[in-house]
Amino acid sequence: MSVRIRTELCKKIRGSLGTTQPPEALNSALSYLELRRDNSSGDFVVSLPLKTGEYDARSSADNIASLKPDGLFTEVRLSGDRLDNVSFRLNRDRCIREILENDSSTITIPGVNSGGKKIIVEFSSPNIAKPFHVGHLRSTIIGNYIANVNDFLCNDVRRINYLGDWGTQFGFVQLGIDLLNVTEEKMKREPIKLLYDAYVHANKLAVTDPSIAEKARQIFNDLESGNARDIEKWETFRRFTVDELSATYERLGVRFHEYNWESTYNAKKISQIISFMESQGFLITDSEGRKVFPFHEKRNVPIIKSDGSTLYITRDIAAAMDRFDKYKFDAMYYVVDTAQNEHFVTLIKILEKMKCSWADRLLHVKFGRIKGMSTRKGSAVFLQDILDETLAVMRENQIQSPTTKVSLDSSDKSTDILGISAVIINDLKQRRSKDYNFDWNKALDIKGDTGVKLQYVHCRLTSLEENSGAKLPTECDPSLLREQIIEELIAQIGRFDQAVVRSHRELEPCVLVNYLFALSHAINKGLKELRVKGEPEDVASQRLLVFYAAKRVLAQGMKLLGLHPLNKM
Ligand code: ARG
Repeated sequence: MSVRIRTELCKKIRGSLGTTQPPEALNSALSYLELRRDNSSGDFVVSLPLKTGEYDARSSADNIASLKPDGLFTEVRLSGDRLDNVSFRLNRDRCIREILENDSSTITIPGVNSGGKKIIVEFSSPNIAKPFHVGHLRSTIIGNYIANVNDFLCNDVRRINYLGDWGTQFGFVQLGIDLLNVTEEKMKREPIKLLYDAYVHANKLAVTDPSIAEKARQIFNDLESGNARDIEKWETFRRFTVDELSATYERLGVRFHEYNWESTYNAKKISQIISFMESQGFLITDSEGRKVFPFHEKRNVPIIKSDGSTLYITRDIAAAMDRFDKYKFDAMYYVVDTAQNEHFVTLIKILEKMKCSWADRLLHVKFGRIKGMSTRKGSAVFLQDILDETLAVMRENQIQSPTTKVSLDSSDKSTDILGISAVIINDLKQRRSKDYNFDWNKALDIKGDTGVKLQYVHCRLTSLEENSGAKLPTECDPSLLREQIIEELIAQIGRFDQAVVRSHRELEPCVLVNYLFALSHAINKGLKELRVKGEPEDVASQRLLVFYAAKRVLAQGMKLLGLHPLNKM
């Protein structure tokens, strides 16, 4: 429903309860307000399933039910076994007007979500020199959505890409670069591939020559202690890498506020944190000379190796502390695959034990694996390869639109956007924690529930706007919008904000994706059954208004998911 209706209803409900209820529980219950069109009566109904929250609804239900009908609603009703489901029958005309004339580009609902929270979303986070695997692709897609939706809910979002450039493996990379004589000139042209080749080369040699691993460790130690001859070179290579990565992210439509390198938290730079941990008794030295965090009786977590170098978890502890210092965040999301679950459980526990009061603000947003996403070059190694393959497949199947109602645009730019939309939606339509099999044909099918379909429906609406000959009315006239199909479409449009709120609450993009599929079905049905062109002027313009509102919501939803809505395909 529109934000205005939602706000007004919340206010009335809260008013009817006085101050007897705990505000957070009520706020959470109010975020469950849902609009639907009642099939038998045709009424627009908002229900408040009070059972859903951690909220005792029974006592409140009677109070809410005693609210007097007014211009907003015509009746309040209680239902359910315990009579704790409240539903409001809305004033039809007011409801339709609010839905169609709503043009807000963000959602804030006082008391329910008021925005203004400082949110950090750490996502993508590939390792340089190691392949950008499909796990990083999922992190990029899901993380971008979480950041977008928080922007939309008026939170203050910081997007961080935590790039892996540290650890013993980087000794191998540096050694490989020396052995292969990679010059700066060459590196500039294709840094990601060359760093990877260097890594593979040194690792291959290490299989037969044990001294290689020793050399690599030595090089990394030098890097870690900051006295390496190559530190500047290393910085230059990283800069090249960021340039190359940025171009790919741009193609995907993803941006970051910050590239946060793991090496920022190397032994030298975090010596203060380590001394602090030691002085507070959080670290002990074990029999192997390592500094460890006594996690529980049977487990010590190594923090500093005997040669003085840091570990993955050490750098994460330092990064979390550094970010809290800088941003005082209300929440920090780590969008990383499920395989790292234990790492994040340990990280959060350690911070708790160190009495960081904000440790409970960290959340690991985990996701399952994509299987079978290979390209003709073999199993996909670099993000670039995946995107290129998508473009190639898309070009091959270049969609011949099933009707002639959409203009065709065969430029590579829009083909690329279409392919990327397909990959994104194919990913976001799955429940996050599920592993899934990737299938190019299914992902790119215009008839199935895909990103291509969403783009197609968006294009059809653009084409209607351009070719119907009708003009938008100055005002909405609900009396001209009586057909059941239109009312169903309007109700569907009005369900957008609840889909966003729910999707955000559950951190499940699929809630929004499924909503957009349902909306697209309702739009297609409307386009099929109801004409605009050739109808009397007043009817045509009112219908155009409905399709216009549908397009605005469809586009808003697509953008939240990271799609760039096309007008031609
Ligand atoms: N670079 C890591 C990897 O590819 C992911 C980093 C996840 N984030 C973090 N704060 N540990 O495995």
